[in-house]
Amino acid sequence: MLREIYVNLNNIFLSLSDAIDLANPDIACHQMRCAYMAWQMATQAGLPHDRVKRLYMAALLHDIGALSPIDKTRLHAFEEADANAHCIQGEVLFQSVPLLAPAAPIVRHHHRDWRDCDQPISLPDVMDAQILLLADWVERLIQRHSFILNQMDGITHQIQSMEGETFHPDIVALFTATSNREEFWLDVTSSRLYGLLLREAPLRSTEVPFEDIASISQVIQKIIDFRSPFTATHSAGVAQCAALITGHFGYMETEVGLMQLAGNFHDLGKLIIPNAILEKKGKLTWEEFQIVKQHTYFTYEVLNSIDRLERVAEWAAFHHEKLDGTGYPFRVTAEKINTGARIMAVADIFTALTEDRPYRPGMPVEKALAILQEQVRDGKIEGRVVTLLGDHARDIAERVKEAQRDSLRFYTQHFSAPTAKKQVA
Ligand SMILES: [Fe+2]
Ligand SMILES: [Fe+2]
Ligand SMILES: [Fe+2]
Ligand SMILES: [Fe+2]
Repeated sequence: MLREIYVNLNNIFLSLSDAIDLANPDIACHQMRCAYMAWQMATQAGLPHDRVKRLYMAALLHDIGALSPIDKTRLHAFEEADANAHCIQGEVLFQSVPLLAPAAPIVRHHHRDWRDCDQPISLPDVMDAQILLLADWVERLIQRHSFILNQMDGITHQIQSMEGETFHPDIVALFTATSNREEFWLDVTSSRLYGLLLREAPLRSTEVPFEDIASISQVIQKIIDFRSPFTATHSAGVAQCAALITGHFGYMETEVGLMQLAGNFHDLGKLIIPNAILEKKGKLTWEEFQIVKQHTYFTYEVLNSIDRLERVAEWAAFHHEKLDGTGYPFRVTAEKINTGARIMAVADIFTALTEDRPYRPGMPVEKALAILQEQVRDGKIEGRVVTLLGDHARDIAERVKEAQRDSLRFYTQHFSAPTAKKQVA
């Protein structure tokens, strides 16, 4: 049943790449621009199609391991002294998705200078990582507020001056041959780059079944949750809770799977929220809360741009809406909030109340249910969903904890600060 849902892989990767770079307007489309340059260079070099696809995929998501907006901005501005950590974390995330795993070595070495490499450039992993490194440098050298054609010669000279040190001479020659037409630079900086890549880039006709989309959603769940120990298992718990309630509602396996997907994605827009706000223990100020309110807007925007995931977009993004219209940011009322979105809203509150945070233990299930029932009485959330949750509360709470324990294990092993430092050393 689930196998009947197919999504265009280029569409999903482009939208997720875009979401990851939303953190700051100064880095918007960074990975997409790198993917364009890597694709053009690989094509110029006459690399086999499968290899071009692998490099394009790596480039689109190469900074996936840089989790916080500050990390991403500092890397982009050449301020991050240790670029290695996000390469290691990126490699781990790529390895966790079968579809992405072949591209993991490129991500691992996308900041390795040629002088630090002890393998021949003829090896595909070495050459492809060098292409991505060069694309990454070019993209960061572009001054976003100046006309690009006035910059192309200066950037090319700077790249050529790094030959033999940062880049292998063959890679510099490849870049020079690829970038010697204005079109290359105009494409890189075009505001229509998403559409251009969607129509023409290597994965344009690759459709993937639900199981691949599900494993991609798990990696996205990790980058959303692992931003902070405060949220390290939240989406994993919400996804499990929402899927279990959907099953108890009597929905088909397809809907249960899609709800799990929506749960993994529901806080996608939080990628743009600064850690200082995510980790604030006290009440948010009015201004901080306005920033938080954007997150479901972006969840909707990103998911809605993926063909055939429109239903998932609504289920995921309406979780802060209320039946009486007092939620945010869409302020929709009961008639516009479908059952999937009603389930997600309850799953989100229940998980948030019962999960442990570094500064407080989770609330007992009964107390959380009492709070939910109060919201039902106030006309905010769906009573049938809360009743179903209450009927199966013990089982659901246990399985939510189980999903969160699994996610925490991965987090502790690869992402908590001391571990990450140890791996780098
Ligand atoms: Fe990077
Ligand atoms: Fe980058
Ligand atoms: Fe949220
Ligand atoms: Fe949430």
